[in-house]
Amino acid sequence: MNSPIDISNVVLKTERLVLRPWRLSDLDDFYEYASVDGVGEMAGWPHHKSKDDSLVILKRFIENKRTFAIEYNNKAIGSLGIEEYDEDKLPELKDLKAREIGYVLAKPYWGLGLMPEAVKRVIDYLFNELKLDVLVCGHYQFNNQSRRVQEKCGFKHYKYSDDLSNIVYEKINGWESLLFNKSYEINDPSIILRMNVYKIHTTTLGYERIGRVLNYNDNIDYIKNAISNYKSTIIKNGKNYYIEYDNVIICVNSKSYSVITVKRKK
Ligand SMILES: CC(C)(COP(=O)(O)OP(=O)(O)OC[C@H]1O[C@@H](n2cnc3c(N)ncnc32)[C@H](O)[C@@H]1OP(=O)(O)O)[C@@H](O)C(=O)NCCC(=O)NCCS
Repeated sequence: MNSPIDISNVVLKTERLVLRPWRLSDLDDFYEYASVDGVGEMAGWPHHKSKDDSLVILKRFIENKRTFAIEYNNKAIGSLGIEEYDEDKLPELKDLKAREIGYVLAKPYWGLGLMPEAVKRVIDYLFNELKLDVLVCGHYQFNNQSRRVQEKCGFKHYKYSDDLSNIVYEKINGWESLLFNKSYEINDPSIILRMNVYKIHTTTLGYERIGRVLNYNDNIDYIKNAISNYKSTIIKNGKNYYIEYDNVIICVNSKSYSVITVKRKK
C-alpha cells in the first residue's frame, strides 16, 4: 500500500544536485522548462501554456509535500515526485510499504546523468531512512530515455499495459517497473516470475511443442509479453508456474524458467 510521505523538511544532496521542497520563488525556473513542448508530454502531462498554469501546479507541489525540486547551480531544473502508485492495478503490493517515483528534467540538461543521480539518492532515502519495501516507476513504451534512467537505478520491467490513455495520448502503451529493497524477501510467486521474465526460454523440443499451439514470429517473445501483461494471471502449483492469458495456458518450470507446455483453453 502507499506509505505516508512528507518531504516538506527534507533536503537531499548528491555530488551535483540538491533535492529540496519547491518554493513559490521557483516559478520562473519551473515555467521555463514546463512550457517547452515535448518535455511534460513524455510523462503524460501537457506543456504549460502560461505562467499561471505553472503557478497552479507549483502550489500543488508545495501543498502535497511529496515533490522535490531538483536544484543544479542554484536553479530549479526539474522535479522528482514520490507519487501514489495505483493500488487497483498492483493489488499484489497491498501488504508492502510502497510508493511510485516520477520525474522530469529541463531539456538543456538531458544526457548528463543528472536524473539517475537524483533518483538513486531518493531510492537511498526511501529504502534506508523511510524503510519502504518496494518502489514503482513507469514509462511509456516509446520513452527510452526514462527506461534508461530506470535501468541505471536498478528497476526491472514488471507489468505491461497497452491501455494507458490519458489527457495527452488517446492510445498509449507502457511499462511499470519495480525495485525492491534488499531487505525485503519476495515470496509472491507471480511477482517472482514477472521480475524474472527475461530468463524465459525453452529447448529445441519445447520450441516444436509451442509451435504446434502458437503461431507468432517469435513465440518466446509472445510468452514473455503474456507473462508481463496486466491481464495475465499467474499461479504456482508444485514446481511449475501456470500463466493464463488470452485463452492460453502456459506452463513454466519455476527453477529453470523453461517453458514446458502451452495449451489453448477449451
Ligand atoms: C527521462 C529524463 C528524466 C532522463 O534524464 P537524464 O538526466 O537526461 O538521464 P540520462 O542522462 O541518464 O540519459 C538517459 C538516456 O536519455 C538519452 N538521451 C540523452 N540525452 C538525450 C537528448 N539530448 N535527447 C534525447 N535523448 C537523450 C540517452 O539514451 C540516455 O541513455 P544512455 O545514457 O544509455 O545513452 C529526461 O530525458 C526527461 O526529463 N524527459 C522528459 C520527461 C520524462 O520522460 N519523464 C519520465 C516520464 S516516465
